[in-house]
Amino acid sequence: MKNIIKKLKPCVYKYNKIKPNLETERKTFGLIAQELDEIFPKEDFSIVSQFGDYLKVDYIQLVPIIIKALQEVIDEVEELKMEKVDQKQRVNVIYLTTRCNLDCDYCYEKVNRDADGFKHKDITKEEIDNFIMDIEQREQNFVSTICVMGGEPFLQHEMFDYLVERIDQSKKSSGYALNMITNGTILTDEWIETLTRVINDKKISLSIHISYDGIGQHRRDKTTRTIDNIQRFNDLNIPFGISYTLTKDNKDYWVKDIIYLCEKFGHSMRQSNSTIRMNFAFTELGIDPFSNQFQKENIEPYAQYIYQKYSIPICSLVCQMCGKCEKSSFNGRSYMIPQRGSIKVEPMSTHEQFNHFNESGEKNE
Ligand SMILES: C[S@@+](CC[C@H](N)C(=O)[O-])C[C@H]1O[C@@H](n2cnc3c(N)ncnc32)[C@H](O)[C@@H]1O
Ligand code: SF4
Repeated sequence: MKNIIKKLKPCVYKYNKIKPNLETERKTFGLIAQELDEIFPKEDFSIVSQFGDYLKVDYIQLVPIIIKALQEVIDEVEELKMEKVDQKQRVNVIYLTTRCNLDCDYCYEKVNRDADGFKHKDITKEEIDNFIMDIEQREQNFVSTICVMGGEPFLQHEMFDYLVERIDQSKKSSGYALNMITNGTILTDEWIETLTRVINDKKISLSIHISYDGIGQHRRDKTTRTIDNIQRFNDLNIPFGISYTLTKDNKDYWVKDIIYLCEKFGHSMRQSNSTIRMNFAFTELGIDPFSNQFQKENIEPYAQYIYQKYSIPICSLVCQMCGKCEKSSFNGRSYMIPQRGSIKVEPMSTHEQFNHFNESGEKNE
């Protein structure tokens, strides 16, 4: 239909005085009945009809045609958008270990850790090989973002090293990005050396999100280890973002907590275009994970204020602050979990975001 619509030539005209009761002073927008008759012959369609010596156009008949054409255009735009997005990145998740040095009581990973036969399991070199080979096959034309998860991934330095080595050797032309999520309590010299090397090599874009649940870390580690280590990341110029999980215990303090982070670390976070990512302990907060209402009402207004004041996006799953999430594609995601092998997950569309910033501090366009 859109091709038919393209053939139509809207014009502006004035009626002549041939017929009484016709508006002859002002201009009218319309189509030339004769031209329309060529596209929709009056013998076959009721759009153009003979009216005495004249041809008459029934414009109402054009409405469904215009709607159909518009739908075709919308479909095309969406397809183009998806193609553009698909060129961006694919996300895969690897659990370096299901072990953890903490035992946060709201942690959804408890199930993995405590499940019979899966307790305290580390990833193996063979599993990493399979994971990378699978990505190489599926994602030749995409930047593969690998989300390095756990348990606590910083408990598995050896396997992280191997993962980096394996990525370095990979023949995939479109490259990799690594996004780590850590509780930030284990930052040994060995880790600092490795992270600094990966960042300086500039072969792999690396971003790290440190989980921090507020002053006092309510249900996490009650020590100040996390904040001390964020300070070390800050001082060592290792780009980091923060992952803040809203629970029933910190829901009344989160704004204060985040302002504290922005005041303390805002300078380096802005330099690396990093973000504060909000997670929600949906069950204990009693909020519907499939609705944005809670975020819209309780998070967005404060997050906007903080963003305007500190220029650090607070990603709340529904925000439109930096536009990065919308541009990222999370199709083709897979999980590699120790001893469970690779699990493919259906394409998903969410406002999760990874790898907002790269090692040079430039936004990943
Ligand atoms: C499971 S942890 C694994 C990585 C690392 N140990 C850490 O704490 O960052 C990943 C993130 O999930 C969040 N998280 C844990 N349990 C959650 C829950 N029930 N609901 C929402 N987020 C949760 C944590 O706060 C953390 O930011
Ligand atoms: S540190 Fe992370 S993995 Fe460990 S218990 Fe807490 S949320 Fe779970």
